[in-house]
Amino acid sequence: MTQRKILITSALPYANGPIHLGHMLEYIQTDIWSRFQKARGHQCYYVCADDAHGTPIMLKAQQLGMSPEQMIAQTSQEHQADFAEFLIGFDNYHSTHSEENKQFASDIYTKLDQGGYIKRKTISQLFDPEKQMFLPDRFVKGDCPKCGALDQNGDSCDSCGATYSPTELKNPRSVVSGATPVLKDSEHYFFDLPAFEQMLKDWTRSGSLQDEMANKLQEWFTEGLQQWDISRDAPYFGFEIPGAPGKFFYVWLDAPIGYLASFKNYCDKTGVNFDQFWQKDSEAEIYHFIGKDIIYFHSLFWPAMLDGAGYRKPTSVYAHGFVTVNGAKMSKSRGTFIKARTYLEHLNPEYLRYYFASKLTSNITDLDLNLEDFAQKVNADLVGKVVNIASRCASFISKKFDGKLTAEIAEPALLAEFTAAGETIAESFEKREFARAIREIMALADKANQYIDAKAPWVLAKNEATLTEAHLVCSMGINLFRVLMHYLKPVLPAMAKEVELFLNDELSWSTYQTALTNHSISVFKPLMQRVEMTKVEAMVEGSKENLQPTATAPVAKAAVAETKAAPAADSAESTIEPIGETINIDDFAKLDLRVARIINAEHVEGADKLVKLQLDLGNEQRQVFAGIKSAYQPKQLIGRLTVMVANLAPRKMRFGLSEGMVMAAGPGGSDIFLLTPDDGATPGMRVK
Ligand code: 2FM
Ligand code: ZN
Repeated sequence: MTQRKILITSALPYANGPIHLGHMLEYIQTDIWSRFQKARGHQCYYVCADDAHGTPIMLKAQQLGMSPEQMIAQTSQEHQADFAEFLIGFDNYHSTHSEENKQFASDIYTKLDQGGYIKRKTISQLFDPEKQMFLPDRFVKGDCPKCGALDQNGDSCDSCGATYSPTELKNPRSVVSGATPVLKDSEHYFFDLPAFEQMLKDWTRSGSLQDEMANKLQEWFTEGLQQWDISRDAPYFGFEIPGAPGKFFYVWLDAPIGYLASFKNYCDKTGVNFDQFWQKDSEAEIYHFIGKDIIYFHSLFWPAMLDGAGYRKPTSVYAHGFVTVNGAKMSKSRGTFIKARTYLEHLNPEYLRYYFASKLTSNITDLDLNLEDFAQKVNADLVGKVVNIASRCASFISKKFDGKLTAEIAEPALLAEFTAAGETIAESFEKREFARAIREIMALADKANQYIDAKAPWVLAKNEATLTEAHLVCSMGINLFRVLMHYLKPVLPAMAKEVELFLNDELSWSTYQTALTNHSISVFKPLMQRVEMTKVEAMVEGSKENLQPTATAPVAKAAVAETKAAPAADSAESTIEPIGETINIDDFAKLDLRVARIINAEHVEGADKLVKLQLDLGNEQRQVFAGIKSAYQPKQLIGRLTVMVANLAPRKMRFGLSEGMVMAAGPGGSDIFLLTPDDGATPGMRVK
């Protein structure tokens, strides 16, 4: 096998919030892949960094009364502690607020400018006259220009689903100071993305991009590429643009450059040759693992920037889906917005590594962390199948044979079957089909257990005449276990280390095909405890945040929104609204509330909040657009009963006609709860 040179990255987490389980999916996925590549003997490096710049970070530091430098230093330590405990084996962890990154950012920018790829244009934007700063969209609120709903975000309306520009809002106000923003002109710098269209098309076709990503790129090409605004005016926490005092690189310009910076920092410390990886004709492979929400940045801007500045492009960009917990978006009030730290306080990180691995594929569908299934799967597979093989065989060998394995292998054909599976399992890991690899490994674990069950060494051991056979069976069991643990090592590095101590052997891809014979093993210690549901429940309890509505801190909320620190989550605030004005019974009688069954539910292209529902009312069907996307995945809704206002006048929306309204409760975000009648209710029944 020829040795490949591989550089791997995960997306850089923002330096203003904690790592949560939504993030962890990506680091676990990347780490398993990186450990696998290293185990195969390749020259492989895995680097990452904190993403330290931008308005939200600047404002959050102000709010905390710290300098941004102090805040990002503290966050970086917390992030790194979480990663280390989850056994994420970075070769280097750096920061985008670093000397290397500053160098690369100015160098790349200068080359792009010299190449004619930087355009200057004056644009008009909302400006906070009190704070003396331009306001990103998410930092402006006001009334919806289409339906008039109060207190809507700068880019879209929660109530009617309209999208618009913040300058169209009625009664706009700055989320930072409350002041009324004014329009102000300023010169901005733009990266000429359209100039790279042909190159990007070629790259899309030649690379090993996921199908979903290639399709998405195709859509973007059809829509037409746009100039990308890469400058922000002071005050801004970032790097000043060379030759442009008071103008800073937008955070997303220097964020991916952080990949280069972190690797350079590593190369300088270790003597690895940076250019061999990044120069134009490099034969090294470079892979970026990312979430599906940042494909645009990584598959358009980033390769174009690299190309324009004379670097090679990534070999591929691998996107994954979001994490849902118990079938819904992560929610702070439900306790399913679980921080890495909270998880670690209650549970073994390898449980999660295994569970995620057992569900990860190479595509970008979302992954559900169902907490019951999580406990059940870890217990059944790791404790019940894998560890069980060793625990059933080891004590007998220790007690009766002084820890020594037999000189012969009882069933060479069975062992050969286990080792022969190595190549297909490796292929599954290589293709990021971890779920398939785990299925293959568990099928072998079942076989090993069946072998031991059939031979019943505990019975053989009772009789002097069959003692040798018992020894052979148990030694065989230990050898089968060893092969399986070798395959699981990238997923379970800590347990693999314990197993290495137990076997007095290194689990290495180059030696697992040779059986352990005449070999002394150590005394067996339990390798993994069962997952206890009480601990899972304690973790959920510990994650519940009962956020009280506060009159202050609008900045914090907007900051979370803009940084999208929690891609799979929301920051719902649970507010109990006061009871409204009274109505009389006749008013109430006007409402025709009906039980309805959701027979179809779909995403609405171009709408941030809406789900399109097809409702069955027994003798007719209705189409309803409901603003519940932040809380439900459409496919979870199909088949459910709910309650609808059946006599609401139809409303023409941008996306089609809405013929009624479904009823839901909750403050918003992921905390919207669709009302569901008890079993026994049937579609069309009137609610009284
Ligand atoms: O979306 C995010 O969380 C960004 N901080 C990811 C940056 S990845 C890379 F480009 F730096
Ligand atoms: Zn509206």
